[in-house]
Amino acid sequence: MGRQVAIVGVGHSKFGTRHDANIAELAWESIRQALDDAGVGQEDIEYFVVSNAGGWSSEPLPAVVVGEYAGLNPKGTVRVEAACASGSAALKLAHDIVASGQADIVLAVGIEKMNESPTPTVVEYIGRAGNFFWEFQNFGLTFPGYYALYATAYMHKYGATEEDLCRVAVKNHYYGARNPKAQFQREITVEACMNSRYVAWPLKLFDCSPITDGSAAVIVASEEIARKLTDTPVWIRAIGAASDTSNLSKRTDFTSLRAAVEAARMAYRKAGIDPENPVKHIDVAEVHDCFTIAEILAYEDLGFAKRGEGVKLVREEQTYIGGLIPVNLSGGLKAKGHPIAATGVSMAAELTRQLRQEVEKERQATINKGIALAHNVGGTGHYAYVTILSLEKPSK
Ligand code: COA
Repeated sequence: MGRQVAIVGVGHSKFGTRHDANIAELAWESIRQALDDAGVGQEDIEYFVVSNAGGWSSEPLPAVVVGEYAGLNPKGTVRVEAACASGSAALKLAHDIVASGQADIVLAVGIEKMNESPTPTVVEYIGRAGNFFWEFQNFGLTFPGYYALYATAYMHKYGATEEDLCRVAVKNHYYGARNPKAQFQREITVEACMNSRYVAWPLKLFDCSPITDGSAAVIVASEEIARKLTDTPVWIRAIGAASDTSNLSKRTDFTSLRAAVEAARMAYRKAGIDPENPVKHIDVAEVHDCFTIAEILAYEDLGFAKRGEGVKLVREEQTYIGGLIPVNLSGGLKAKGHPIAATGVSMAAELTRQLRQEVEKERQATINKGIALAHNVGGTGHYAYVTILSLEKPSK
């Protein structure tokens, strides 16, 4: 399986509308923090991976633009894209380069400036990433529409309500209000969510992740280098990755994302986590709540709850700190923001800081098992990555 790989440095920009910085400056905001955190210089980075979905922003080839500004030339680079899971794909590539022995220190940075285009352009661009030919062009499906289909299927099958969906948003805004890097730093109520305008029934404004500018960076290293750099390396214990059809019409179940189930299965097997009861191994999770229904599907796809019972975790507040398993203590995509290709790197940066017990006190999970999980979905379930991080070095 190659060499063990650890995260040795992380950085995170402020998420939001960032007209104050161009793409290179915004990427540098997190890269600089990651270099400082790892205690290394640009000259130590042997290769860098840039995740960016682009389309809506001015630089079509941002990897070299970021590298030039960040002083990383002449190191090799590549831009990766796996829709909203691009950041996890970047982390996997960085991991694989180190695990295979091709390099000892690699940087993964996710960067997005979505607010360089108006909302209708962004919504169209994301919508075309479902399936352009059959579903966007013929039926005009956009992402709020796709996830509204999941929501109605789940509500019909399991009796969830719009209030239940809003409860996910209330939790994530609660923690976003305690995260200085989050786009929305204000709490909301179920009532305010219920009164927000419909985007695609039953999803309302407060059920949606926003349009976000931001960057996040992670530096990974081989075991030998990691031990020299830090006393608290965060090991990448397992990465599960899977894909599914681009056409929703070819899927058989709208209350589960098959790719996420498969990615979780792979990650649990590699990490030695019991798939029947994964929460007994995990202290904290970040899951892909691009729309509130997606967080409930994630609970079930990851095995945190049985089928149809994810909504119970929400009603019983089991995914707050102190519950069965705390989820999205960063504010999640909903409140922290969702700069598409930066999200997966942001999850890894957040969970690294959670495991090191460095986040703001009110949103710090209790760490006693030393394991964190990131669930990052691209498209409508086209791609899924499940990444397991641990304080303890994997046994093999
Ligand atoms: N949640 C909460 N508040 C939001 C919000 C969100 N998702 N999006 C915008 N707002 C707030 C803004 O802060 C603003 O508040 P203000 O008037 O107090 O300043 C107000 O709502 C209007 O914002 P605006 O930017 O005009 O909203 P919009 O209509 O342009 O965009 C959506 C709203 C929901 C259409 C847009 O955020 C969207 O498309 N989200 C989904 C993105 C997506 O599909 N991502 C990929 C998922 S896989």
